[in-house]
Amino acid sequence: MQHVDQEKEIQEAADYIRTRAPRDWRVMIVLGSGLGPLADEVRNPVVIPYSDIPHFAQSTVPGHSGRFVIGELLGVPVGVMQGRVHFYEGHPMWQVTLPVRVGRRLGADTLIVTNAAGGINRGFEVADLMLISDHVNFLGMSGVNPLIGPNLDSFGPRFPEMTTAYDAELRALAKRVAVESSVPLQEGVYVGLSGPAFETPAELRFLRTIGADAVGMSTVNEVLVARHSGMKVLGFSGITNLARLSPDEGEPPSHEEVTTASVKIAPKLISIVRGVLAQLA
Ligand code: HPA
Repeated sequence: MQHVDQEKEIQEAADYIRTRAPRDWRVMIVLGSGLGPLADEVRNPVVIPYSDIPHFAQSTVPGHSGRFVIGELLGVPVGVMQGRVHFYEGHPMWQVTLPVRVGRRLGADTLIVTNAAGGINRGFEVADLMLISDHVNFLGMSGVNPLIGPNLDSFGPRFPEMTTAYDAELRALAKRVAVESSVPLQEGVYVGLSGPAFETPAELRFLRTIGADAVGMSTVNEVLVARHSGMKVLGFSGITNLARLSPDEGEPPSHEEVTTASVKIAPKLISIVRGVLAQLA
């Protein structure tokens, strides 16, 4: 396997961002499919397209803008990724997760990560928002993990622990905010697959059996590198479609459905993230 000099590439990307937005970040926020409107709330924004940043991959997915919006949200210095790149777009895993390490270099100690996901839990409805309590790294189980390769000792240990991946205090805070702002919030386990094909009914029944509440094509890898470098993680899945556990129920999923439901989910996400940041400020 060929290894790039990741430390150097991370530093060059971070140095470039600093030339345009010098301030330290505190919280990094990754916005998934259709959840980009949160970035509009950033005050004094500096907008940097990924195409300007050395070593960054470009997002090719509709609904993913492909830019950083850097500024302040409720007084908290943030770097918001409006759109992410996915493994299924063909980028190597180090490049899929590069932005999170760059965010860490820029000072972020907390990652708020969001995604669009299919709802497997039968209690979920389209447009629900789910707080991620834990994940199953399906790609990792088959030998694809962003931490494979020489360990970046300046970020974290060779064998990071993952039993505390989704920060308990941040989750409690998010639940409190949800109650206070009357936003219904589900909670559950996210399973990360590679995509880009959606799952078969047999795969979805299998995922339900292993304890999955939602399924998607992102997030897990970002969380791995964030935890490796000691960042606290808070994660949300927007339930954009319900898993078709049998071909006789519902309709096949589509990216259009994902984008339509995200429009309803974005305001809920915005309320909760605003409430969380207000407490962190
Ligand atoms: N499966 C995988 N990823 C997804 C889905 C889904 O049903 N919906 C949105 N992202």
